Amino acid sequence: MNDLKTRVLEPTTAHIRSAAELLQAGDVVGMPTETVYGLAGHGLRTDSLSKIFSVKERPTFDPLILHISPSLLPRLTEWVVFPTGKSRGCLDRLIQRYWPGPLTILFKKKAIIPDLATSGSPEVAIRMPSHPVAMHLIEIVGVPLAAPSANRFGRISPTTALDVVKELNGKITVVLDGGPSLVGVESTVIRVTDTGIEILRPGGVSLEELSQTTGVPVKQISIPSAALSEVKSASPGLLENHYAPRTPMILVSDTFSEKPFDDIRNHIWEKKKKHSAKSIALIAVSKSNMEKYSFSSSPLFQKNFYFSDKGSRIEIAQSLFQTLRAADESGVDLIFCENVSDISGLGAAISDRLYKASFKG
Ligand code: TXA
Ligand code: MG
Repeated sequence: MNDLKTRVLEPTTAHIRSAAELLQAGDVVGMPTETVYGLAGHGLRTDSLSKIFSVKERPTFDPLILHISPSLLPRLTEWVVFPTGKSRGCLDRLIQRYWPGPLTILFKKKAIIPDLATSGSPEVAIRMPSHPVAMHLIEIVGVPLAAPSANRFGRISPTTALDVVKELNGKITVVLDGGPSLVGVESTVIRVTDTGIEILRPGGVSLEELSQTTGVPVKQISIPSAALSEVKSASPGLLENHYAPRTPMILVSDTFSEKPFDDIRNHIWEKKKKHSAKSIALIAVSKSNMEKYSFSSSPLFQKNFYFSDKGSRIEIAQSLFQTLRAADESGVDLIFCENVSDISGLGAAISDRLYKASFKG
């Protein structure tokens, strides 16, 4: 590892311009978006794409999303093929309604997009982030920017500039500080077909919203992509560990606290024994759920966290990765985390991330 320190830059025009120059020269930079922070690189240059994979230590079978700005929308057909069939109207409506915003759409790619960006798939993922700093940066560079979340592969996604530094310090020169990401979970990744919409990854735009906007059938498909499914079957379980804290994390439903106290205590003791854990942190979905666990004079948990004051889905999503990171850094050796039991709306993305972040076995 070298001595390079990652600089956090206020998003002044001068700083955005210097980040754009780095990108034009083939380097990578930390970029704020409304979902999570991205590790941005020139989307049409193989050397930049390679750098993204190596900085993240990400296997090249996991494809990247290309990010455009509103000013690049009229040029989208330089890079992708628009469908001519029944799906076209639906696609136009989605773009109209959700771009800029947390919706990523798969298109058939043109040859100008390097195969490395799509992991060899004929489809490329395109998104238009709504964060003003991301928009400005993309507009100056003038080409789509590839940007995976700016964490090391498999780790917790960053939602502040400081998180990016924690993940990638010494590996990138610059991160633009755009404040905390407001959505807090990644974009929804979809494919639009002549029969409806397929969700490949739940995210900031819910299944219900997509269905209401378009009136077409929307279904969640669990395997992220053809490229990924091959790896998944070759190495089962590999991709289920994602967004993960270093500390093992076990999940229970947000209704767990309603069980009789003895059941709760026995369950926790059993888990502590299994993991040889001396200290354990609680993450509850809401403050009132957190308080439900404190009915004993000898506390069950050494540290206590909650995702949201009142348990609202928007707030849980916003603080999801920050709270996981805080619990991970709190010095305990086991995390006991509540998951939302209602997976409607943003609940689908929240539950997906927590499940993938949790210990299996
Ligand atoms: O909100 C977001 O989407 C963030 C911000 C930075 O924009 N980006 C992000 O990128 O989450 P990343 O690389 O961490 O996740 C991209 C995921 C891939 O793991 C895969 O599931 C899906 O998007 N994806 C990308 N390209 C695809 C393709 N060609 N076919 C199928 N799935 C694809
Ligand atoms: Mg990611």
